[in-house]
Amino acid sequence: MAWQGVLHAYRDYLPFGKDVKPITLNEGNTPLIRAGRLAGVIAPGANLNLYLKYEGLNPTGSFKDRGMTAAITQAVHEGAKTVICASTGNTAASAAAYAARAGLRCLVLVPEGKIALGKLAASLAYGAEVISIDGSFDDALALVREIVRRHPIALVNSINPWRLEGQKTAAFEICDQLGGRAPDWLCLPVGNAGNITAYWMGYRQYGRGEPQLLGGQAAGAAPLVSGKVVAKPETIASAIRIGNPARWQQALQALDESGGIVTAVSDDDILESWRLLAQLEGIFVEPASATGVAALKQQIALGAIDPAGQSIVCVLTGHGLKDPDTAIAQAAPPRTLPASVEALEAYLTGQTS
Ligand code: F0G
Repeated sequence: MAWQGVLHAYRDYLPFGKDVKPITLNEGNTPLIRAGRLAGVIAPGANLNLYLKYEGLNPTGSFKDRGMTAAITQAVHEGAKTVICASTGNTAASAAAYAARAGLRCLVLVPEGKIALGKLAASLAYGAEVISIDGSFDDALALVREIVRRHPIALVNSINPWRLEGQKTAAFEICDQLGGRAPDWLCLPVGNAGNITAYWMGYRQYGRGEPQLLGGQAAGAAPLVSGKVVAKPETIASAIRIGNPARWQQALQALDESGGIVTAVSDDDILESWRLLAQLEGIFVEPASATGVAALKQQIALGAIDPAGQSIVCVLTGHGLKDPDTAIAQAAPPRTLPASVEALEAYLTGQTS
């Protein structure tokens, strides 16, 4: 049967009532892609089975759609008319899309000047009320938490438990795509720490084995690594520019229970992995999404993870078109040539620079 989204596909594993009608964009069912060339670079000769879970291919271009179908479905079921979230951009775009589909009013609070262009464009296009806050993501989250105490508005950040219910379906899918077995390691970026919490819930529930978790944080926004709130988080990976993650304790617990590792990687390392993904595997992601790969590369180099014969999945959380500005800033500009075969031929054969 045709794919009808994660609530339909995994309904037996989700706590929705029988009478609940999913608000869906047919999210999920994203490809798990073998990455042999990348494996050859980060673990030469190790016979590593490396896979990329390309969550950027969800309907709004990020993994957030899995949780958002669940949160918006439940909000509608409970009679909500308005939803709100704080966001570094992807949650905003996803909330805006699902709210539009459900006919709900949607407010999104974003840190001023810190949201990637594709996320802003989409949120506006879907008709959300985009409110730019003179502060960080953490400030915006504190505001929305307070406003939903005062007004009957549904909060659709990942502190909403329905978000995690939807997001955990990615763990189910990975097991299904690997022939009914969890990988040995699961590597992913960690920002507000909802996704790592949801994956761990999913693996625990599904009973197909449990991977060790490798969480990657950007060095300028790594509270889980330092154990301290970061007052002014800074990183090129704007999606994970978060200094005080809402799911901090659950993330630490998941890391602990899985025998996992959380580590910080520099912006240069993130961009290197971002480039490797695009240029070795043809997969264009936003910078934050390369953080799991950067963390894996680092841990293999340090000898903390032995890749020999392992099955390892890196989650690529968002599409590259989310952040075109960074992509363009990282590359040389296109070459300009006269519109003539001679000029093209001279270029091709290296007779001009
Ligand atoms: N990757 C991307 C592309 C993200 O947008 C986010 C979070 C993460 C990773 C980290 O996931 O927060 O569950 O640990 N983005 C949120 C947002 C904060 O507002 O879009 P997390």
